Amino acid sequence: MDKFLITGGRRLEGTVAVSGAKNAALPAMAAALLTDQTVMLHNVPRVRDISTMGRLLAHIQAEVEIPAAGDGAVRIRTEKISHAEAPYDLVRTMRASVLVLGPLVARSGYARVSLPGGCAIGARPVDLHIKALEQMGAQIGTEHGYIEARAPAGGLRGAHIVFEKITVTGTENVLMAAALASGKTVLENCAREPEVGDLAELLVKMGARIEGVGTATIRVEGAGHLGGAEHTVIPDRIETGTLVAAAAITGGNVRITRAEPAHIAAVIAKLSETGAAIDTFEPGTLCVQGSGQPAPADVTTQEYPGFPTDMQAQYMALATQADGTSVITETIFENRFLHASEMARMGADIAIEGRRAVVRGPSRLTGTAVMASDLRASAGLVLAALVAKGETVVDRVYHIDRGYERIEEKLSRLGAQIRRIS
Ligand code: UD1
Repeated sequence: MDKFLITGGRRLEGTVAVSGAKNAALPAMAAALLTDQTVMLHNVPRVRDISTMGRLLAHIQAEVEIPAAGDGAVRIRTEKISHAEAPYDLVRTMRASVLVLGPLVARSGYARVSLPGGCAIGARPVDLHIKALEQMGAQIGTEHGYIEARAPAGGLRGAHIVFEKITVTGTENVLMAAALASGKTVLENCAREPEVGDLAELLVKMGARIEGVGTATIRVEGAGHLGGAEHTVIPDRIETGTLVAAAAITGGNVRITRAEPAHIAAVIAKLSETGAAIDTFEPGTLCVQGSGQPAPADVTTQEYPGFPTDMQAQYMALATQADGTSVITETIFENRFLHASEMARMGADIAIEGRRAVVRGPSRLTGTAVMASDLRASAGLVLAALVAKGETVVDRVYHIDRGYERIEEKLSRLGAQIRRIS
């Protein structure tokens, strides 16, 4: 199992480019199941979740080409679906595998998808995905740990769906199903995340008729048939935010390119409040100057356009260095403070009270062995290690490899002392 060895204390300086968004690339790959023609995707990050999705699509008998390095486009062609199944082994390592459910039932009339099971950051059910597809006429049961879904004769039909709770992959799943269903679908209380917008853009290129993207109400006129398309995935807003936080926590001076600053407005606002100077004057670029002594600021995670839960751990690392108390409230997931106890082992003063973490800074962090528990928690630990005295060993780096492309190379080019050991 790989580990990162990080020696803290270096200010980050230089220019770094953001990769494509994993969370936009995953639904885009799943959308390729909706057509028998080729879907070609650019700017897909080479991270483990993408290869997992590639394996899943290949299991479904799609032809999948993911060139190893560089910006070679990912090509997917699903001439026919002969094996409409997402097996436990793949779903277990990546919950987003559930994204094939909607496309499979819509295109082939049948899907068998393993239930995701327990997950380090709370229960994370998929009941809302299931309920919405049932409203579109699917018969869905769960047996032997699998969701089995069957479309009615004539295929899925449009419906009026009101999500009880905002769900990102739920919105995406149903949007894909509705694009191919017959008739009109109205989706209310939709996720407004940029990744949903990016998926809708791809679906429109494939021939879907979609209105209202980026708002809470999306209207889809089922197309019955979709074709191939070529699409460039949006920049990863969470990687962008993580790099901004890395610059801020080290008091560094970093220029971040190939980004979309508009997608992280809430992160920019919050980190500016802590004293970082963030300039977005140049298109697609952020220039971040850390303040040297961050100020405390409370934050509450929210659905987009609020402060993302996927930036909560990284923000917590920064808060340990702030001069005063910051209260971090997590409203999206239960049990998403697993990184706090590891940061405490490095010397942070963090008290967890239910959904709130009270972080008292500034703490002098010292390096030790810490364990990554999930993707974003690992990013938080890496940031803490960048300012800790001495050496930190971050174990279970496979979590970070799920979603960050060559993070250690990017950080070391900015001057961080970080290396991977196997
Ligand atoms: C997506 C992101 C993930 C991010 C999360 C919240 C992808 C691949 N992953 O995850 O990085 O942290 O959005 O921004 O895009 N819920 C239910 N029933 C459901 C579905 C969700 O109760 O059927 C609950 C979840 O338990 C959670 C909340 O709704 O408390 C939001 O989850 P959701 O938006 O669905 O997260 P994901 O789409 O899994």
